[in-house]
Amino acid sequence: MLIQLTYASRTSRVLGPADIKDILSASQRNNARAGITGALCLNNGIFLQQLEGDRAAVNALYHRLLKDTRHKDTAVLDFGEIPHRRFTSWSMGLLGSVDANRQLFLKYSSTPDFDPFSMSTLMLRSFFDEILQNVRWLE
Ligand SMILES: Cc1cc2nc3c(=O)[nH]c(=O)nc-3n(C[C@H](O)[C@H](O)[C@H](O)COP(=O)(O)O)c2cc1C
Repeated sequence: MLIQLTYASRTSRVLGPADIKDILSASQRNNARAGITGALCLNNGIFLQQLEGDRAAVNALYHRLLKDTRHKDTAVLDFGEIPHRRFTSWSMGLLGSVDANRQLFLKYSSTPDFDPFSMSTLMLRSFFDEILQNVRWLE
């Protein structure tokens, strides 16, 4: 059964490029094997991640993520069955806070700061729709 899970968390300390690289390479390595696709955003000390794949596989990953000390305050924002994947061509991309994305963050945020914790389910879905079409990914 194919599901989608969206969660947000806060960085537990200042994360450097090495931390980000480590998260990204683990994601690419493990998610491809587990058939998990999705996107990871980091802005303003907040992670927002959308995962899609087999329900058991996504649950297993989410439990592993909860134990990761690089982030805290993890909260599920959206969860449900999906008819098909939206992220297909890669296993996990990181959307950073490059200038071109700032307007996008602001568009779906009620405050000047990117704050997914206060975004509605509808806003989150629109946000990820737009990410697919119109984003500058970090390599
Ligand atoms: C915000 C955040 C997102 C992460 N996303 C993933 C992910 O999508 N897939 C993954 O395998 N690990 C992810 N990780 C890393 C895991 O918590 C964990 O460190 C990693 O899966 C361990 O992989 P390894 O056993 O292959 O070293 C993420 C970590 C953080 C802090």
